[in-house]
Amino acid sequence: MALVNAAEMLKKAKAGHYAVGQFNINNLEWTKAILLTAQELNSPVILGVSEGAGKYMTGFKTVAAMVKAMDESLGITVPVALHLDHGTYEGCYKCIQAGFTSIMFDGSHYPFEENLAKSSELVSVAHNLGLSIECEVGSIGGEEDGVVGMGECADPDECKTIADLGVDMLAAGIGNIHGKYPANWKGLSFETLDAIQAKTGEMPLVLHGGTGIPADMIKKAISLGVSKINVNTECQLSFQEATRKYIEAGKDLEGKGFDPRKLLNPGFEAIKATVKEKMELFGSVGKA
Ligand code: 13P
Repeated sequence: MALVNAAEMLKKAKAGHYAVGQFNINNLEWTKAILLTAQELNSPVILGVSEGAGKYMTGFKTVAAMVKAMDESLGITVPVALHLDHGTYEGCYKCIQAGFTSIMFDGSHYPFEENLAKSSELVSVAHNLGLSIECEVGSIGGEEDGVVGMGECADPDECKTIADLGVDMLAAGIGNIHGKYPANWKGLSFETLDAIQAKTGEMPLVLHGGTGIPADMIKKAISLGVSKINVNTECQLSFQEATRKYIEAGKDLEGKGFDPRKLLNPGFEAIKATVKEKMELFGSVGKA
């Protein structure tokens, strides 16, 4: 099935009280592992691409061409959206041209009026071309591919103003952080999430920094209106751990164990296992 935008799958998720996972991709193995797992579990999925990962894969055009061709050649029938993660203003236009089906404009570091103006322009451009769009209010803490945020909680009134532009999904800081959570992390601010949900109603809310959030907090966040959860670091850690084990066990030195198709396979399987665990936790299994 051709790639879709994320609007419909997220509306269904919000109404059905589950969340769709956004899993970030870095290369062919990542993409294949996520697509195959979504298909096996009959789950909708969003493939996230940061600007850094896009550059690594030689540009958004390469990414879009690879994802479209792979979706087709693997015979994927579940809904798949190709989404820019934490896009700059310029990055959003590049992904629109490259054939992405969804974009995120992260204007959270701008003064609010500027975030509003740029978000408003991009909402109409994206919608005219049939793409879905995510905007952000209140930054996500930590660092992801050079995007650094202080992690302040979003202002529910500002969330409403941005939601009223007609965005398809809204990322709002609620104490979440990209990467591993520090030992002294205070947890998600459910008070803030509750207030945002009260102001934004049916708007699917996005929880960034999905890595390392305890299962009970994930479930509570979904019950308070989160319909999309982003996971990146956790797949990287699973891949790294499995690859390390393979090499430490000396398997790369046995027979043709150096063949990249063998060397990268344990990491590939580990990504699949992580994606499966998250889809089960988010409740998106069987919802395609
Ligand atoms: P993690 O790397 O913490 O899972 O965060 C992913 C994310 O929010 C992508 O935007």
